[in-house]
Amino acid sequence: MTKRVALVTGGTGGIGTEICKKLARQGHVVVANYLPALQAEAEAWQQQMKAEGLDMHIAAGDVSSFQSCADMIQDIESRLGPIDILVNCAGITKDKTLRKMTEDQWRDVININLNSVFNVTRHVVEGMTSRGFGRVVNISSVNGQKGQFGQANYSAAKAGMHGFTMAVAQETAAKGVTVNTVSPGYTATAMTDAMPEDVRNAIVAQIPAGRMGTTADIAFTVAMLCDEEAGYITGANIPVNGGLFTSF
Ligand code: CAA
Repeated sequence: MTKRVALVTGGTGGIGTEICKKLARQGHVVVANYLPALQAEAEAWQQQMKAEGLDMHIAAGDVSSFQSCADMIQDIESRLGPIDILVNCAGITKDKTLRKMTEDQWRDVININLNSVFNVTRHVVEGMTSRGFGRVVNISSVNGQKGQFGQANYSAAKAGMHGFTMAVAQETAAKGVTVNTVSPGYTATAMTDAMPEDVRNAIVAQIPAGRMGTTADIAFTVAMLCDEEAGYITGANIPVNGGLFTSF
């Protein structure tokens, strides 16, 4: 297996951590991005990974800022070499029904979940196409596919991510670069823990698989798309939702 440098935005979060672990166990050099204000937490995370036998790199960067992403990527590439794998996983929720949603709640979710994908990918795409290899995976959501009560901001951002995937996949397909979306369903992390319990229980009761997803379910799918042999899968949206939403 070719050892690649992989950047995972939001890499210290629930799903991000599992993706970092999976890619690191496959032998890649993994860099977990974190929000600059959370330096102490990121260092503790790195220590925890070390205790589990995994050498992870960490990189501060605000994915909602184009310049912060430019600085972060320049720093990573000068330290570790070119980024061949990018997983855009940073994301937040600010759930409110539209009639109560503030402009800040709309903007923050669009900036962090959607504009981030441009802010980060823009700085790696030329390197990937010129080297003739790249894997970009955008972590969207079932709620981008079906919409969700209380998530006009999040559903719009997550649907937008897949529009980006489909366009950039076409631009890069002839250059050995694949761009895909993974759309997790309800996955057990701090994000779903923060939901009102009754709302969460009602949604879980509708999942045909009879359980929430695990972070390992998502990491498996991301690693599959990042594989050397996955070069013909591009522009796809892979649902990992236990049957909660099906389409073709
Ligand atoms: N469908 C229809 N009606 C619903 C509803 C639904 N799904 N959910 C709530 N309602 C109703 C309530 O019964 C209530 O009705 P009444 O006014 O008649 O009593 C009304 O809508 C409440 O509306 P409000 O505007 O007052 O909303 P609220 O301030 O009480 O809070 C909410 C609403 C914040 C959206 C809350 O329902 C909530 O947190 N929902 C969870 C949203 C969700 O699924 N988030 C996912 C987070 S995890 C994630 O995003 C990861 C991922 O990718 C899957």
